[in-house]
Amino acid sequence: MSELAYVNGVFGPIADARVSIEDRGFQFGDGIYEVIVGYEGRPFLLDEHLARLRRSAAAIRLEYDFDTAPLEPIIREGLRRAELRDALVYVQLTRGVAPRAHIIPPNLRPTLVMTFRPLPTVPEELRRRGARVMAVRETRWANCYIKAITLLPNVLAKNEALRHGFDDALFVTAEGEVRECTSANVFVVQSGKLLIPPRTDAVLHGVTQGYVMECAAGMGLTVTERAFDIAFLRGADEVFLSSTTLEILGVTRLDQDPVGGGEVGETTRRLFQEFRRRAGRGT
Ligand SMILES: Cc1ncc(COP(=O)(O)O)c(C=O)c1O
Repeated sequence: MSELAYVNGVFGPIADARVSIEDRGFQFGDGIYEVIVGYEGRPFLLDEHLARLRRSAAAIRLEYDFDTAPLEPIIREGLRRAELRDALVYVQLTRGVAPRAHIIPPNLRPTLVMTFRPLPTVPEELRRRGARVMAVRETRWANCYIKAITLLPNVLAKNEALRHGFDDALFVTAEGEVRECTSANVFVVQSGKLLIPPRTDAVLHGVTQGYVMECAAGMGLTVTERAFDIAFLRGADEVFLSSTTLEILGVTRLDQDPVGGGEVGETTRRLFQEFRRRAGRGT
């Protein structure tokens, strides 16, 4: 087995997995999700991902009983059945099935869906050259700290960036404030110190971001939350991204300009090595 789905209690092939057309996730994007990696069959930073899923559920008042029906055993069982060395686990909870109406009916049974797939590797060439990022106007809602499945602005921005030959889009507010990429947080290295945009409601509080902060602390590097604008980013010593699937990825180009001299910076490389070492992933 290498690819596997789970829907409301039942494991099976992804191609056979089904949910109703009246699922509120399908009709309204009324749901939340997590993306988790499994290394050597073991979920990485699982507690942190599940804690964020609970926070997302609470924020949209999605009533799932995490205590009596915990997700952890299902994720572990899926990883065991899929027999994947390194896995990408997608976990989605939607509010459930009901005739289409904005008003949420009482006593809905949330739909729980998971997929287990081989973890795609980040191409070595991309790691070496670093990501090219295109600034786009922040068009998302004010609650991006909720990991909601409603991702149309992210999807459109990512694809526009790709169409223009970039690897990702970076959301920047009308005032020039840097937020995050379409599925990654942004870090700046300036004068030997790390900066991240403030972890307000406007950005996702990345699980990997938190882990990178721990790695940095272990290396004696300070990380400060501070608003900065796109001009500051352009002049930064180094810029890198963090996410569950990228881990740490240097940024070497912003729009038409090189960033950090156009090469993956020394601090970024050291942090990536430390990340891999701590995560038991070798270097
Ligand atoms: C908008 C956004 N920011 C940041 C991240 C990185 O979060 P994490 O490190 O928890 O994967 C993601 C991940 O999907 C994301 O969608």
